[in-house]
Amino acid sequence: MPIAIFAPLLHLWLYCYGAAMKRKVLIVGIGAGNPEHMTAQAIDALNRADVLFIPHKGAEKQDLARLRQEICERFLRSDSRLVDFDVPVREQSTAYRESVASWHDAVADIYERLLSSELGDGELGAFLIWGDPSLYDSTMRVFERIRAMGKIALEYEVIPGISAVQALAAAHKIPLNRIGESILVTTGRRLAEDFPAAADSVIVMLDGDCAFKKVDGDAEIYWGAYLGTSDEILISGRLRDVSDEIERVREEARARKGWIMDTYLLRKPVKS
Ligand SMILES: C[S@@+](CC[C@H](N)C(=O)[O-])C[C@H]1O[C@@H](n2cnc3c(N)ncnc32)[C@H](O)[C@@H]1O
Repeated sequence: MPIAIFAPLLHLWLYCYGAAMKRKVLIVGIGAGNPEHMTAQAIDALNRADVLFIPHKGAEKQDLARLRQEICERFLRSDSRLVDFDVPVREQSTAYRESVASWHDAVADIYERLLSSELGDGELGAFLIWGDPSLYDSTMRVFERIRAMGKIALEYEVIPGISAVQALAAAHKIPLNRIGESILVTTGRRLAEDFPAAADSVIVMLDGDCAFKKVDGDAEIYWGAYLGTSDEILISGRLRDVSDEIERVREEARARKGWIMDTYLLRKPVKS
């Protein structure tokens, strides 16, 4: 086909297809385990949406399903449709960044299919996201991938939520930072490599291996599991005094419930 005919046809096709596939979605932070973490803005967002998308991950599925049900029963005044879906598990065998990239591709495909098939023209969708959507959550990154794929003209708004970090600080009744000092938020995997030299207070999330065991025993730890829920467990003290206890309590809780979510704050010892 001559280029003079092909180019306008391509533009027409892209215009029609793009217009047909416009989707608008709210990414809603629902808090870190307590339905009362729901903000007025989050409640309003749920009630604005026609379809609520609820991701399920791993072993905590049942408990998260219960929380979502409680949130819907308490706060939903509209007849929004609920769509549950499973998020695939990330492949652990390849290098970390590589495995995250291919996991994001897989999740983007699922989201794109959901948005195309479950959300009608002019309807508003909402994704219910654990804690706050900006903290160790890939929904926004995945949405940007979908936009880059170009099949859906996707628009989204982000509604902030109470994160596990805020729930931890409130439960222990501690400010996160020392006066005039910085805080660093990191993962157990990173902490296991080294204690960040420049940070005074370090928040650790996504730690499956008790990385705190490698840290100087003089440091203080404020540890919390299942924060905001009726199973909440809190332990704090000098690492040398409480490290073994946390490891034991953590293992017992995980065996009992089949899953665990824990977060902690580490503070370097004060220099005299
Ligand atoms: C994938 S990240 C999601 C964080 C979430 N977006 C937030 O704002 O809290 C999951 C990690 O958050 C932490 N986490 C989330 N909810 C928690 C809770 N209720 N109690 C303790 N830690 C929690 C754990 O470190 C867990 O491994």
